[in-house]
Amino acid sequence: MKVVENRNELNNTVADLRSSGRSIGFVPTMGALHEGHLSLIECSNRENDITIVSIFVNPTQFNDSEDYKRYPRIIQDDIKKLKRVKCDFLFTPSKDEMYPDEDKREFDFGNLESIMEGAHRPGHFRGVALIVSKLFEIVNPHRAYFGEKDFQQVAIINRLTKLLNLDIKIVSCPIMREKDGLAMSSRNMLLSTEQRDNVSIISETLFDSLQKKKILSIAETKEWVIRKINENPFLEVEYFEIVDSETLNSVNEWSQVVKITGCIAVQVGNIRLIDNIRFYS
Ligand code: PAF
Repeated sequence: MKVVENRNELNNTVADLRSSGRSIGFVPTMGALHEGHLSLIECSNRENDITIVSIFVNPTQFNDSEDYKRYPRIIQDDIKKLKRVKCDFLFTPSKDEMYPDEDKREFDFGNLESIMEGAHRPGHFRGVALIVSKLFEIVNPHRAYFGEKDFQQVAIINRLTKLLNLDIKIVSCPIMREKDGLAMSSRNMLLSTEQRDNVSIISETLFDSLQKKKILSIAETKEWVIRKINENPFLEVEYFEIVDSETLNSVNEWSQVVKITGCIAVQVGNIRLIDNIRFYS
């Protein structure tokens, strides 16, 4: 694995690889890698000749500066994990390398900006779009891999590639879960032991809601999920929305569309966790 910090060096290397006919897979991350990230890398390895991973904690996507400061940065551990799987290049740019000047671009993501993560984390998706578009320009991959835990982010990235007319296939990969069901996330390592012992109720409740679908309406299911999780003193639901999996618009009836997803954000002390569940097979 070659570690590259300079954007031009990586861009030139990729140009050479592409002209020799090699396919490029890209896994952008903010580090603190877990099995979820490694599954994206494995997926890229299966589908491409070369896999490039980036680690960059992107300041522009944090609407809360404390969250940015707290975000785990454990690059040496990450490198050890990457050596266990096949990763050809690791891109670890500095802040100046990615943002030499202020990036003033705005994007129109329509409804995606005003719902769920868009509504609760103002500016977050603009920051994600700024960094992902820059990374796409540097890495110029054939395929890019994102985890479905960040369900709305996948929709944003798909819209971004359309807006920018990019010839990159966006591949989304299933959520990886801990043994007790907790969706893997870099933020999980920030949880105290006590908090960690309580957060499995989030995924348990989401899975139980699949059964509730048979007897409850959408409004009742939402209410049930929120009440069940909020009963736990460590947890506070920020939102639980049941949406059309394609458009992410709210649905009012189970029969309205076939593909329905439930998306949740829960505050655990000062740590914010998200998860989602498919109400279809
Ligand atoms: O999902 C993430 O880790 C980040 O939002 C991403 C896509 C790497 C952009 O910083």
